[in-house]
Amino acid sequence: MAKTMTRATSLLVLTFLLLLLFLNSVSSWKRDEFRTCNQTPFCKRARSRKPGSCSLFATDVAINDGDLIAKLIPKKPREENGEDEQAQEDEPIKPLLLRLSAYQNGILRLKIDEDPSFDPPKKRFEVPDVILPEFHNKKLWLQSVSTEVIDGDSAPSSIVYLSDDYEAVLRHDPFVVYVRKKGGDLVLSMNSHGLFDFEQLRTKKKEGEDWEERFRGHTDTRPYGPQSISFDVSFYGADFVYGIPEHASSLALKPSRGPGVEDSEPYRLFNLDVFEYIHDSPFGIYGSIPFMISHGKARGTSGFFWLNAAEMQIDVMGSGWDAESGISLPSSQNRIDTLWMSEAGIVDAFFFVGPGPKDVVSQYASVTGTPAMPQHFATAYHQCRWNYRDEEDVENVDSKFDEFNIPYDVLWLDIEHTDGKKYFTWDRMLFPNPEEMQNKLAAKGRHMVTIVDPHIKRDESFHLHKEATKMGHYVKDATGKDYDGWCWPGSSSYPDMLNPEIRSWWAEKFSFQNYVGSTPSLYIWNDMNEPSVFNGPEVTMPRDALHYGGVEHRELHNAYGYYFHMATSNGLLKRGDGKDRPFVLSRAFFPGSQRYGAVWTGDNSADWDHLRVSVPMILTLGLTGISFSVEVLGGSMERVRREDLISGISPGRGVQPMIVTQPGYCLRSRNLEGDETWTLTEYSSRTMTRMYIELIIKERNDLSWRERNTELMRDAIHIRYMLLPYFYTLFREASSSGVPVVRPLWMEFPSDEATFSNDEAFMVGNSLLVQGIYTERAKHASVYLPGGQSWYDLRTGIAYEGGVTHKLKVLEESVPAFQKSGTIVPRKDRFRRSSTQMVNDPYTLVIALNSSLAAEGELYIDDGKSFEFEQGAYIHRHFLFSDGKLISSNIAPSTSGKMLFSSDCVVERIILLGNYPGAKSALIEPANHKAEVELGPLSLQGGRSPNVLTIRKPNVRITDDWTIKIL
Ligand SMILES: *[C@@H]1O[C@H](CO)[C@@H](O)[C@H](O)[C@H]1NC(C)=O
Repeated sequence: MAKTMTRATSLLVLTFLLLLLFLNSVSSWKRDEFRTCNQTPFCKRARSRKPGSCSLFATDVAINDGDLIAKLIPKKPREENGEDEQAQEDEPIKPLLLRLSAYQNGILRLKIDEDPSFDPPKKRFEVPDVILPEFHNKKLWLQSVSTEVIDGDSAPSSIVYLSDDYEAVLRHDPFVVYVRKKGGDLVLSMNSHGLFDFEQLRTKKKEGEDWEERFRGHTDTRPYGPQSISFDVSFYGADFVYGIPEHASSLALKPSRGPGVEDSEPYRLFNLDVFEYIHDSPFGIYGSIPFMISHGKARGTSGFFWLNAAEMQIDVMGSGWDAESGISLPSSQNRIDTLWMSEAGIVDAFFFVGPGPKDVVSQYASVTGTPAMPQHFATAYHQCRWNYRDEEDVENVDSKFDEFNIPYDVLWLDIEHTDGKKYFTWDRMLFPNPEEMQNKLAAKGRHMVTIVDPHIKRDESFHLHKEATKMGHYVKDATGKDYDGWCWPGSSSYPDMLNPEIRSWWAEKFSFQNYVGSTPSLYIWNDMNEPSVFNGPEVTMPRDALHYGGVEHRELHNAYGYYFHMATSNGLLKRGDGKDRPFVLSRAFFPGSQRYGAVWTGDNSADWDHLRVSVPMILTLGLTGISFSVEVLGGSMERVRREDLISGISPGRGVQPMIVTQPGYCLRSRNLEGDETWTLTEYSSRTMTRMYIELIIKERNDLSWRERNTELMRDAIHIRYMLLPYFYTLFREASSSGVPVVRPLWMEFPSDEATFSNDEAFMVGNSLLVQGIYTERAKHASVYLPGGQSWYDLRTGIAYEGGVTHKLKVLEESVPAFQKSGTIVPRKDRFRRSSTQMVNDPYTLVIALNSSLAAEGELYIDDGKSFEFEQGAYIHRHFLFSDGKLISSNIAPSTSGKMLFSSDCVVERIILLGNYPGAKSALIEPANHKAEVELGPLSLQGGRSPNVLTIRKPNVRITDDWTIKIL
């Protein structure tokens, strides 16, 4: 994974790291490899602009093709701004074109670009293949525009319909775009502080004009001059803003400018391979999603998304920031102002009105897509390490899991399995029989993942390189030659994934015939796809490298990894004739990545700070569409921190929140040199954190220590496997609505202010709350449980009151986790070697009663691997407990009486939490037989609890309608 260093130098760097660690300043060594805002001319320029400096006004406003269009024209010659490089006064004044379109569900789209009738030197880049084709069918054809002078304004405004409750307004002079409730409160605005700026493309006229930029020995030729865009966006009725991953920072975004914020950087969105990134930092890392969400008690939730793939920088202004300089718009209570800056591209922005948190994520998903439904196995536990040496090593690890009675579903192979870092090949000395190796795992229901990165080794004997060269499939450098950069294999070139033909060519490489040694149980992992280039500026490709259609790398940089992920995922799809759901994990991402697979949060380190920040990082990814994400702990520095890891991030702690909560993913940790080790990495698919556990078998002679830790890990992983039916149901919800599997508390409790900035606890679906523990050897935890319901401890069944912060004792073997009253959670409690072997196992239903002794929940099941669910081949049940009766009913839409998917699974146990009074037995209808009822136990922990009631062996089929009445 994220190895920014070549192996040759890694020893050196490690030593260096060690040194720095002792100095306790790990962060400083890499910081100067990356640009700050001040070293980035467009960012520095945009940040220095004064509110009100935009002089554009809207003219020629009309309805055209169902959109509101206008021209933006500067009122006076461009401001003499001393800091502007190459003042543009002598350029003719060229208008910009503005287009506002309305879509279903209250979505406003705003585009601003250069006017083609003034012959710009080239077309600016508009990101293709991100917006869903279906989205275009949701356009509302605007018929009319009303123009009026809104109270307090001196100039007219044009108003168009957005939904029954909302309307969009274009204020003409100065130009401002905003969304408001009909005739009332504002939701979102753009340019209300007059910071909008749009640098138009230029061609060199004068000799000696120098637009080049230099950074650490790299020169960017910038043939079209500066071409950045910046503007302010305000969120009204907002208490906090969230989103814009990926940063290792808090869930609620801290101000990056304003009173009290010193020397702070804007949040940077620029996909970079940042080895051992620092926590609590706005620096850009592997992926970028320019989508921000605001939430407030008064107005609810809204969102703003800018589809733009160039480097972006975003400031969140603290309160008290120069607010007076804005244009006075009505209602500005609790406004949060932000400044958006991008190096290139166009304005293609979307305003989402909400008003609830789930509305906003669904509105965003209607533009960029919902997450793909993963294969069931992918939601279980994955095992990885860098590196599995050979087939024997793989076999050993595999059998250790069986010996220790720990289930796992996937084993991962990093780059060392290849022949000289040439992807799609095997080192035949170490892996002589890859098919046989995969088949052995497959016999236990297990899968394998191999790594395939975008850098292709420039080796004349490598067929892939020969073919790519011959066909002209590589990205070109600024002079038009195949770009040659340094990565794992040494000298490498990168396929131009922007080109759809090259993506199909790439996809073909995954056929069983082309990928020799692959079998149907093999899936793929894309690393280094930012793209990482060791000798490139900021460890990536030069901005003036050239892609398909003359697009400069600067324009699409943040989407390169997305297109690569897409091509790989399509390859797996083709390989299985479109029948098998792909599984591809990617490090780089962009809006839309959720349609192609999962992502992980890269190379962090095994310390408490990274464990802590993994929760907001994954919650943020979920909010911005990427519900299937994974966190790796212990990514890179185990050699240094082994002791910390063992004593600090003990399996009972670091690991538990993830395991309990996530559908698992794994990632690798490094092998400890010379030690006989094995590594368990739990990962959570979908939304959560991955967890990582390292068991050092020989490291400690203390046998009881080892056994104890093995037991803790086994328990944690068992809990995850028990919850797989619940997770899979949540994945289905995410893939139909965009609502993430793992959610910030405020998404479920949007009017409970105590939850708004809480990112230590989170919800798994609507039913489970997990409180992470982030300090070493904590004995107590303060847990806030949202009000309006009570909460049952997942292990003991003990009920806690909501609306209160509880100080709870915490044990080594668990983190606090609770089931919300009024919910029903489906489980499978029997342990197998892998999730695949649990298919026919019976279910347990856990009913957490609310104060009216009622609860409800859902269960979704399909074949776990094909796309037949899209034709209705699935089971979707609704469970309702009320008036002493549990009713199971179908909620899948009718498939004209035909059952396209069926299951023989039964319910073997029903657990009721919450003192159900006076139960003696249970009557099952329509079968008309009785089942036994007993007090306790709660099988997670054993012990009997007076407020737990168990209905034993009702043995009703999961596919059938039935009622169970407590007598
Ligand atoms: C309890 O749950 C039932 C079923 O969801 C619901 O209809 C009822 O309103 C809930 N009662 C309370 C007090 O929350």
